[in-house]
Amino acid sequence: MIDSKTKLLGLIGHPVEHSLSPIMHNKALRDKNLNYVYLAFDVHPDRLKYVVDGAKALGTFRGFNVTVPHKVEIIKYLDELDREARLIGAVNTVKIENDKAIGYNTDGLGARMSLEEEIGKVKNRDILIVGAGGAARAVAFELAKDNNITIVNRTLERAKLLAEEISRKLNRSVDYGDLNVDVGNYEIVIHTTPVGMYPHINAEPVIDVNNIRSDMVVMDLIYNPRETVLLREAKKRGAKAINGIGMLVYQGALAFEIWTGVKPDVEVMKRTLDIESL
Ligand code: ATR
Repeated sequence: MIDSKTKLLGLIGHPVEHSLSPIMHNKALRDKNLNYVYLAFDVHPDRLKYVVDGAKALGTFRGFNVTVPHKVEIIKYLDELDREARLIGAVNTVKIENDKAIGYNTDGLGARMSLEEEIGKVKNRDILIVGAGGAARAVAFELAKDNNITIVNRTLERAKLLAEEISRKLNRSVDYGDLNVDVGNYEIVIHTTPVGMYPHINAEPVIDVNNIRSDMVVMDLIYNPRETVLLREAKKRGAKAINGIGMLVYQGALAFEIWTGVKPDVEVMKRTLDIESL
């Protein structure tokens, strides 16, 4: 029941109306008997500057997720950043505690946890990351810690800049290239661009799928639709195909724990998304 002790969590984005985070978090909060509610807030970029002070002023606010287009902009309003958020240069989770707003980024680790749930420990692997935008940054920074990463992108210069930044910050070499890459040279391919996302579900994959082999793993961060053309083609060739639901769940589960100190039941979160028709 919502009462005078109920604490507030939420999502700040623009737009937010199609987000699955509210149902996922509210279900997990109820499952753990935690007296919180999670709401979606559609914040226009011009109003972002009021959010952190406003949330602090309300007292009841304990934290929020941050999504497109605010993940980088929010940083200038925060009091502290944890190591991952500083490294990635973007925040997807804010915790408000003792009048301080602290920024975290759970996207990269969320992607790793989803991948490792499916295929076991991911270490010393040859990994191809397709795309060099915000989602690619989080995933590449995380996986480059202990894997050999190649970043390919439509705009070569962006792939180069990201690869060089990661190499410098992590002191590990990161390769880069364009979309004419031979995917057959990699064990794991992670697609991070929006190509194939609803409503353009029949869009052709941005990489050549013909060299996908049955011993490869292909992950697509898209979860709507659950099976993109890329994942369908990967499955056809016998490869392991992983969609973006797991990353959505694990980045959320990590945020939930940051806010509440309690580990949510990820199965409850997944089941909620399974039955939620898109
Ligand atoms: P996100 O935060 O979701 O990663 P982003 O930062 O806008 O979004 O990045 C989008 C990524 O998808 C970029 O790598 C972009 O390539 P460019 O850097 O060349 O723009 C890629 N992308 C978007 N549309 C694409 C398309 N039609 N074909 C190939 N790549 C595309």
